[in-house]
Amino acid sequence: MSLIEVKDISKTFKVSKRRGGVPGMLANLFVPKFERKEAVKNISLSIEKGEMVGFIGPNGAGKSTTIKMLSGILYPDSGEIIVDGFIPYKQRKNYVGRIGVVFGQKSQLQWDLPVIDSFELLKAIYRVPDAVYQKNLSRFTEMLDMGSFIRQPVRQLSLGQRMRADIVAALIHSPEIVFFDEPTIGIDVVGKETIRSFIRELNEQDKVTMLFTTHDMQDIEKTCKRLVIIDGGTKVYDGTLGGIREQYGTSRQLDVEFAGRAEIAPIDKVEMETIDENKKRFIFENRDIQINELMNQILSRYQVRDINISEPDIESIIRKIYNREVDGI
Ligand SMILES: Nc1ncnc2c1ncn2[C@@H]1O[C@H](COP(=O)(O)OP(=O)(O)OP(=O)(O)O)[C@@H](O)[C@H]1O
Ligand SMILES: [Mg+2]
Repeated sequence: MSLIEVKDISKTFKVSKRRGGVPGMLANLFVPKFERKEAVKNISLSIEKGEMVGFIGPNGAGKSTTIKMLSGILYPDSGEIIVDGFIPYKQRKNYVGRIGVVFGQKSQLQWDLPVIDSFELLKAIYRVPDAVYQKNLSRFTEMLDMGSFIRQPVRQLSLGQRMRADIVAALIHSPEIVFFDEPTIGIDVVGKETIRSFIRELNEQDKVTMLFTTHDMQDIEKTCKRLVIIDGGTKVYDGTLGGIREQYGTSRQLDVEFAGRAEIAPIDKVEMETIDENKKRFIFENRDIQINELMNQILSRYQVRDINISEPDIESIIRKIYNREVDGI
């Protein structure tokens, strides 16, 4: 059995349907109408101890809802979740000490208190032994460069500082499992790098198991080997980061600069775009035509000055998956 086992979970929200105008407002009061929003539909997921999994999907895909169910904040309508032997929403009291949760969009710190006071409070709540607390505190504050603001009230912190403080707050009790829901949102490039290397170290050295939600593909590329994509509440991909290129990124592109104005005849099964007067881009599937065959066709007919082959990057493949422009989802 894996450390995190999710079987067929679903979650539907009841959203009140507001009607406009005075009669509508009265009707809302006396005969409220609801519509159902299926946020998560039959998601299954197994995560092994020490794994670091990127969890992505477009806005409204159901990522935060899934993380809330995993951390025991929400219960699923159907299906099962077992994390480290616990059923999160049923055994919440004992379970919370085993996990850490970071919601980038919502701080869990005490707004008016110095950062360090929030940490002390969490130490008491989780009954963290003094030695463990001191060790974590000094290690994490150094790694995240927090010395300069740890005694300042949270409300005075910049977003990047607050996020780092929130991350430490979620980890002060040495949880074995951490759920990150957009821990890099709104953070600048340098700050993102700091957070990424912190997360990486925690995973590599401490073997902390993590699920990492983000809209920044670089976060995933720099930290996770495995990627789970959800869309419309269902899982559309679960595999390695490289595997996604094999499965969906099979198209190749060939940019050709011709020696002079190019009037190129269409080539079967190859899409052609004009970049400028002398340059064309040929987009094709490997299974339709081999690269050397295409190059031969072009080189034998036209005068070529430069040629450049490239593969689609992960980000453009993900974009296609979100837009449902790829087969198989
Ligand atoms: N408490 C709630 N009540 C009603 N609907 C909700 C609630 N929470 C989420 N939803 C709906 O469920 C769907 C999934 O939301 P969720 O927050 O899980 O998406 P997400 O993948 O985290 O998106 P984002 O990338 O924007 O954070 C959305 O359509 C959202 O409007
Ligand atoms: Mg979310």
